[in-house]
Amino acid sequence: MQVHVADHPLISHKLTVLRDERTDSPTFRRLADELVTLLAYEATRDVRVEAVDVTTPVAVARGVRLSDPPPLVVPILRAGLGMLEGMQRLLPTAEVGFLGMVRNEETLEAVTYAERLPDDLTGRQCYVLDPMLATGGTLAAAIDFLVQRGADHITAITLLAAPEGIARLESELATIDVPVALVTAGLDEKLNDLGYIVPGLGDAGDRLYGVV
Ligand code: URA
Repeated sequence: MQVHVADHPLISHKLTVLRDERTDSPTFRRLADELVTLLAYEATRDVRVEAVDVTTPVAVARGVRLSDPPPLVVPILRAGLGMLEGMQRLLPTAEVGFLGMVRNEETLEAVTYAERLPDDLTGRQCYVLDPMLATGGTLAAAIDFLVQRGADHITAITLLAAPEGIARLESELATIDVPVALVTAGLDEKLNDLGYIVPGLGDAGDRLYGVV
């Protein structure tokens, strides 16, 4: 798996404010949205394009447009929803599929409770959105789900990642014959006993949407 930790002062600045426990929900949502747009720029370096001609007021120029089928963006409910608009800002023609996954807080394993995705993802580039790569259980299950449906190129975008989550993804995806990349705004130190990223930013879903 190719891991890219975005290294840019604006990303670091926004991530620092996002981490701050005093940052309120509206500010947190706005910053997460802005961060994802910056990450989307990095994450779409490999997006497939095809050559086209474009007629300028002066001459015909060679250009590109996104290839068909369009990329598929897959936010993992619920916290991944807070990343969707930021992604769509750069990829407005992408289709959007949803995966509802929740972490069993005792086993820390991912359970799928909802799914709205095309049955056939053959030839599709997929961008999976999940703010926190903690144990890696959710992302590994989501990526496996997409590969089973035929996706042939997957990029996961997270705000933060823990080394334990990256290690788990690498081991679980070792047998998958599909290129997988991870783009994240920060790589943190570790997980604590409750499976939270340290220093992290707390529960991303709660900070985006409140404790419900
Ligand atoms: N999910 C979160 O929202 N935060 C963490 O630190 C780990 C998992």
